[in-house]
Amino acid sequence: MSEAERLFEKFGREFPKGTVIFREGDAGNEMYVIQSGKVNITKKARDVEKVLVTLGPGAFFGEMAIINQKPRSASAVVLEDARLLVIGPKTFDAMIRGNSEIAVRMIKILAQRLQEADEQIENLMLRDHNSRVVHLLTHLAAKGRHVPGGILVEVDPGTLAQKVGLEAQQVSEVLSKLLRARLVREQDGALLIYDVNRLREFLEFLEMKEKFGDI
Ligand code: CMP
Repeated sequence: MSEAERLFEKFGREFPKGTVIFREGDAGNEMYVIQSGKVNITKKARDVEKVLVTLGPGAFFGEMAIINQKPRSASAVVLEDARLLVIGPKTFDAMIRGNSEIAVRMIKILAQRLQEADEQIENLMLRDHNSRVVHLLTHLAAKGRHVPGGILVEVDPGTLAQKVGLEAQQVSEVLSKLLRARLVREQDGALLIYDVNRLREFLEFLEMKEKFGDI
């Protein structure tokens, strides 16, 4: 029996697509580790449910309520049939105290989440739609895949729109401009960024334009 199977036998549960694991504001003291499938973490803003992040195999969620002893900060909804390890508070405590490698890994992921939240705040402070989309693309490029001709970023206009607080149509309009300016192109359902430095220069240009206006 593999380690994953052994863990699943001890802590595992299957959650079909569409299951609401918990809702924002609920009390809860269990953490979840994804063995397979996908889970959306969502939050309500002005009565609209927004996806903060989609998590896949290896990711964990639900740790904040255990650590802070506060209600759930967001909801968790199964996007694709999932096998999850459900870790109760005692096991969580023993895991963190007994295994510094797990504790360090968790700190790194929490720090990364904070950095992403800071980037999103920076993005939402930009007033111009073009700047928001280009700013996000320059950050996504850092995590993209280097391929011949540029960097491939696996993202669709809907996801981009969620992240920058715009409508999908507004994002598509910005992408069309970037396409015409030969800064990006669509490839295999993803976006190919030809040269991230040119994209950064374009962002600087947009920021200058916002500062000084069209003259
Ligand atoms: P908790 O507050 O217990 O329940 C909601 C969970 O969503 C939270 O723990 C985190 O695990 C997760 N979560 C909240 N915000 C984010 C975020 N910005 N990125 C990734 N995961 C998040």
